[in-house]
Order: sequence, then C-alpha cells, then structure tokens
Amino acid sequence: MTDNEADHEADPGAGDPAPWDAQSLLIMKRDGDRLPDDAIDWFIDGYTTGRIPDYQASAMLMAVFLNGLDGPELARWTNAMIDSGERFVLGDVGRPIVDKHSTGGVGDKVSLVLCPLVAACGAVIPQVAGRGLGHTGGTLDKLEAIPGWNPSVEPDRFREIVTEVGAVIAAANDDLAPADRKLYALRDVTGTVASIPLIASSIMSKKIASGTEALVLDVKVGSGAFMREVDDARVLAETMVDIGNRAGVRTTALLTAMDQPLGRAVGNTLEVDESIEVLAGGGPEDLVEVVVALADEMLTMVGIDADPAKVLASGAAAPVWAAMIEAQGGDLSAPRQRATHREEIVAERDGWLSGLDALAVGVASMRLGAGRARKEDDIDFGAGIECLIKVGEPVSVGQPMLRLHSDKPATFAVARHILADAVTYAEQQPDPQPLIIDRIG
Ligand code: URA
Repeated sequence: MTDNEADHEADPGAGDPAPWDAQSLLIMKRDGDRLPDDAIDWFIDGYTTGRIPDYQASAMLMAVFLNGLDGPELARWTNAMIDSGERFVLGDVGRPIVDKHSTGGVGDKVSLVLCPLVAACGAVIPQVAGRGLGHTGGTLDKLEAIPGWNPSVEPDRFREIVTEVGAVIAAANDDLAPADRKLYALRDVTGTVASIPLIASSIMSKKIASGTEALVLDVKVGSGAFMREVDDARVLAETMVDIGNRAGVRTTALLTAMDQPLGRAVGNTLEVDESIEVLAGGGPEDLVEVVVALADEMLTMVGIDADPAKVLASGAAAPVWAAMIEAQGGDLSAPRQRATHREEIVAERDGWLSGLDALAVGVASMRLGAGRARKEDDIDFGAGIECLIKVGEPVSVGQPMLRLHSDKPATFAVARHILADAVTYAEQQPDPQPLIIDRIG
C-alpha cells in the first residue's frame, strides 16, 4: 500500500457527510477484500446519480471482473441495482405470477410461444424483454415485426393486460434498475461484459425489479450462446439461482443447447411465423421440446398441475397469443415485412448434417439485415435465414440447406463467406445430443 493509499483507507462516518470514498473501495476490491454492505449501496447509488465518475466505476468493474463478488456481496450488489429504481408491484391478480429469462441465443423465439402457453395453463407472466445486439435476437425486435405492435406499455395498462389476458411482453421503463443501464454501457467499453457476477447481477436486478414471484432461467450453452462451455453455464446458472432465492424470488434454471439455431427460422418475421406454427400445434420438434420443458418447470414452481405439451398441441395457447398481441396494437392479419431477395446455399456432399454453427448463422443473419451491430442500427424485419436442414437429418449433394433472406443482395456474398465453414457432414447419422442439458435449483 502506498502512503497515498493509506490516506484513503475507508473511514466510515468520521464526521464526513459521505461515509465512504471511492478510492478506498477500489483498493479494497483490488486487493480481494469483501466490500461492506453499505459501501456497496453507496457506490451503486453514487454511480447511478452521477456522484461517482465513469473512471472510478470502470476501475471497480475491472476489480470485480478480476476478483469477483462472494454470495452475500453479490446479493447486496444486485439489491443496490434494484433499489436504484422502482420495483414494479403487480398487486393481487388472483393467479400465480411466474416469468422466464433466456441468456440469449440464435433463433430463440421461446418467449413468443411460452408466455401465452403458460398463461393458457393458468399462470400470469409479466415479462419485461430486451432487444438484440450482435448475433443474438431480441424478443422486442421479433414482436415489432408484427405491424402496429407497441413495446411501450404504461404500468396501469400493463396490469390491465396481465389481468385480462394473463401474459404481457413489454419494454422496460426508465425506472427499472437504472443502475444497470449505466453499468452495462460502461462494461461494453471496458472489457468487463464477460464476468459471471456482473452478468448475473445485470439480469437478475431487472427480473427481480419487475415483480415476479417465481423465475425460470434458460441458460443457453454452445457456440451461439454467451457461455460456450457447460461448466461456465452451470456456474452462471447457480449464481443467478442463488441471487433470486436470496431476494425471495423462487428461481430455478435449465441449461439448454445452443450449438445450432433453435427451430428452423432465424430473423424477426421468420421467427414470428414459426412461433405461430408452434402455437397452432405444429412447428420444429426442438423448439417445442424447449418450450414444453420451460413451461413444465414454470408451472411446477407455482403449483399448477397442467400438461403444457397437451395444451400446446391442442392449439389452446393461440387465442391467448392473439389477445396478447392485439392488446398492444398488433395486427396479426396485416402482412408482415418480407425480404425482397432470397438465395439458397446447397449441400456439397451426400451424408448427414453433423453440425450447423449457431454463431455463424446468427452473425450471417445479422449481416443480412436481421440484427444490429450497433445499438443505433435499424433492422430489416424480413431479413434472416431459414435452416432447411438441421443436425441429424440426411442431405444429398445439391439439396438446399439454408435459405438467405435480405433486402440488400450485396449482403449475400458476406453471409456466404461467414457460413463457409458453418456446416459439417458425417457418413453416418450422428447420435442425438440432449437439448435439455441440466437443471439447477
Ligand atoms: N443480459 C443482460 O441483461 N446483462 C448482461 O450482462 C448480459 C446479458
């Protein structure tokens, strides 16, 4: 410790109106010590309100990135993020309240089907969702592919829709965990995004503040996910489950595979179309399997005895979906935006598809216009990729495997380049890999 640092040792309450100083807390975390509870509150509040500058918050994020936060420290950090804004109180809606959060993947349109399904089974889902950035899609972007659908819902209207329909998906308002908005933007430019305590507190602060009683996390694992390795995904899941349970929100997690896109559609309009197929009782098996597993978990948590597979296959969730979309101005009978140009990528060999890299498909779809490289980018709702063949299916040379959709024909060459090594073949049918890898909680 330097003399200068000694001058900055924490001295809470020694006549100074501010109980802590930022430099002392930075030194503590740099040296691997535990931050005191009220120091965490002071730091998060100070950064949210502008009293602590970006350079000190950046240093704190890096110290947390390198030295972590222990269980109680992380619970307090998350709680301070929640208290930076308002907690949404839904009130008594006469039915159990449960929500789901996915850590994000390619072709992940699960919420579009799951929310009306779980509502059709008797629970209430007040879901605050986000937008896509990079190769993963965002639920709000997908729903905006429906003409007229509005993601912004005032709190009273939110309560009304939840009570009448049973499910809402909407954008967060400015009062929901504002500390996260500032911290996330800072993490993005300081190399501190990929930190388990920082990811876990970011996700859980928003979910806990949105007022659910129970929560199921869908932690994606594989090339198209935040976590590529099962062991890392398990630690992230355990960390988030611990935060949720400490905060009084019953929380469990499923680890689900994200090595290839989920379902066959990637891109906003294409994913809405596929969700509607599943809600009608059809659609790709892998998507149905993940939706049903998550629905089962959510319903069990809140004590509802229902068979979501049966309810989904019967089409009974479709009217709930229609009511949910119409309540936010969406017109499901209006034509959705379609891309003006299409091209197909064909198989180069006979055999079986043994791999379809989710990351490459996600990045190619983004470059075709379906996603954003920067927050301010516009997206083309019709752009994306149809996966005509999935892993484990037979292929013959010349057979179309991927159908690219874009309004900008010049992007096809870029997408083809990105997808050049995305597909792998096998002589024999590969063994099926489990989609639901583990359950934590
Ligand atoms: N999603 C979030 O909301 N926060 C993160 O840090 C990562 C994913």
